[in-house]
Amino acid sequence: MSTMLEEMNRARKEGYALGAFNFFNFLSAQAVIEAAEECHKPVILQTSVKTVKYYGARELHAMVADLLKNSKVPAFLHLDHCKDVAFAKECVDAGWDSIMIDASAHPFEENIRMTKEASDYAHAHGVFSEGELGVITGVEEDVVADVEKLADYDDTVKFAAATGIDFMAPAIGTAHGVYKKTPHLNFELVERLGKDLPQPIVCHGGTGLSDDTFRKLISLGIAKVNISTALKHAYIDGAEKYARETPDDYEPLHLEQAMFDSVKAVAKHHIEVFANGR
Ligand code: 13P
Repeated sequence: MSTMLEEMNRARKEGYALGAFNFFNFLSAQAVIEAAEECHKPVILQTSVKTVKYYGARELHAMVADLLKNSKVPAFLHLDHCKDVAFAKECVDAGWDSIMIDASAHPFEENIRMTKEASDYAHAHGVFSEGELGVITGVEEDVVADVEKLADYDDTVKFAAATGIDFMAPAIGTAHGVYKKTPHLNFELVERLGKDLPQPIVCHGGTGLSDDTFRKLISLGIAKVNISTALKHAYIDGAEKYARETPDDYEPLHLEQAMFDSVKAVAKHHIEVFANGR
């Protein structure tokens, strides 16, 4: 069995990226895994802190443990944007493969300290870690960040080395949620980090970026792309369309199937695009 770090390094070397999809229930997790299996690509199921709190860490881990174990492609469980070191440790203990500690709202040195603490704990338990530098705007966990601060090259290199994280998420101009205007991305920063940084680079705010933008970012070194909002929209739009088209059908499994198909199609499209960075 390969590890998440091995799969990320392989993706980086071969010029593709792993899709990391924020799932919110068993149906959405299963739809992502099936999409990845059909594309023969490794995949990351990731959870927001909100989702973990909704179900409970051990319950959520148990919900997807068999799905991950029996997947025909390498599949990993990652904790997304955790601002609380104690909570990240709880997910390490509950069996996550990887955790992201997001202390990016803190001053640089405090971000390093908190990220290193969570990362050291993760590593002591055989778990990988991701950290963030700069401010990625948009809505994440119901918190709105509206003043963008892109990561700086020198700070990112220093941060990645000082914290010992495995995956680096620098703010490159992407945003969480639906884009209200075309984002201006710092491709030069991605290119320099892609060449110089030992760690694979993560792109947050994947929803709404064009396929060409994905391909360009991946060709420059992005090895993990986060998709959340697009999956939520597919789930709810799939339900709405089904209810509108078949107003007299009260068989819940038919509705579930429609939502499943809708989520799977969106996940599959992204995995196919991420598979061809070069
Ligand atoms: P989107 O909701 O814009 O897809 O962003 C996902 C993300 O980056 C989660 O960390």
